[in-house]
Amino acid sequence: MESFKFHSGHQRAMYKRRKMTANERKIVFIIGALLVSFILGCISTWFLMTVQNRIKTDFQSGEAWGDRRVPTDYSFTSVSVLCWVMTSPENLFERAIHISQTWGPRCNLTLYVTSEVPDHPFPGRLLTVPVGEGRHSLWNKTRAAFTFIYTHYRDKYDWFVKADDDTFIIVDNLRYFLASKDPMQLEYYGFHLRLPPEMGYAIDFISGGAGYVMGKETLQTLIKVVFDDEKCHANGEIAEAAEDVMMAHCLREVGITIGHTLDSLGKHRFLVFKLTHFIYDNIGTWLPSYLVHNLTTGIDCCSPYLISMHYVRPPEMYFLEYVTQRLRLASLSKDHNYHFIGNEIPI
Ligand SMILES: *[C@@H]1O[C@H](CO)[C@@H](O)[C@H](O)[C@H]1NC(C)=O
Ligand SMILES: *[C@@H]1O[C@H](CO)[C@@H](O)[C@H](O)[C@H]1NC(C)=O
Ligand SMILES: *[C@@H]1O[C@H](CO)[C@@H](O)[C@H](O)[C@H]1NC(C)=O
Repeated sequence: MESFKFHSGHQRAMYKRRKMTANERKIVFIIGALLVSFILGCISTWFLMTVQNRIKTDFQSGEAWGDRRVPTDYSFTSVSVLCWVMTSPENLFERAIHISQTWGPRCNLTLYVTSEVPDHPFPGRLLTVPVGEGRHSLWNKTRAAFTFIYTHYRDKYDWFVKADDDTFIIVDNLRYFLASKDPMQLEYYGFHLRLPPEMGYAIDFISGGAGYVMGKETLQTLIKVVFDDEKCHANGEIAEAAEDVMMAHCLREVGITIGHTLDSLGKHRFLVFKLTHFIYDNIGTWLPSYLVHNLTTGIDCCSPYLISMHYVRPPEMYFLEYVTQRLRLASLSKDHNYHFIGNEIPI
């Protein structure tokens, strides 16, 4: 009652507090409690909404993973891709079969392209094309495969991927990457290389072994020119030497460029060798002179959104399959549940 000390005695008497009855005290207490819980409720709702929005924004913009090109509608899982695997009678049951047991079935349709009908059943969709075998026939095989695919599937899928029978593709990350691209864009995507000057032929191309992908518009443009002997002559030295350089040559003739595939940290998503070669700085002698984009080695070499690896041997395919599809980190699995079965370890 300090503040009253300047008032006259009379006023002081008027302000003197009357003792509250028990009922009045109860009411005051209830009103107070309601007020406090209302205010606390407001504060915690505001706090939760702010935090949730932050997390959502981080996820949608991909900031949390250092990548800015994340689609915001999460629609990447429905991106449609047709994959075809370049193989041969010799490697069909040695290599391609292991793709059919690992990443192959995750494309919307996967065709295994060879030149002969095998004598026992293959557990995947085969496409046999009437071309010779061997390195010098790869370009003819590529042309035949893309022509068949264009004829039968051009309206069914948006994206068309070519891989080798020792390529491993993480289809999920491929879809994620493609979701931010337009299948009508005249570009194609993969590991960007450039023939070094001493080869005497200046051209940028995409590694065939690391896999490359084109949208339906690019496929249509390719098919228009691929048997045109003026623009895309198949008997030249390049055609016999390197199928991927020949592809680049044909596409360049019709104005198709090599699209950007690095992630926002400048790291590669498509790898011309297997991952461990990049981690262990074991990239050989030819690659550095063919590089267009910087490449770092070591554990931070590559994009966390890795799409492909090349020279992957069958056992490694299963290893990658396990690590990319089955392995779960208990701390990261949101749907992780403990199921105690007797004294068993939780699963
Ligand atoms: C392609 O596969 C994805 C993922 O399974 C699916 O969501 C999509 O509907 C498929 N698209 C077509 C055209 O089959
Ligand atoms: C590729 O096909 C063309 C016909 O389009 C043919 O002239 C050529 O000899 C073939 N090349 C090889 C290496 O078989
Ligand atoms: C590549 O890396 C080198 C050394 O780190 C740097 O000097 C150069 O500017 C980089 N080039 C590109 C195109 O980023």
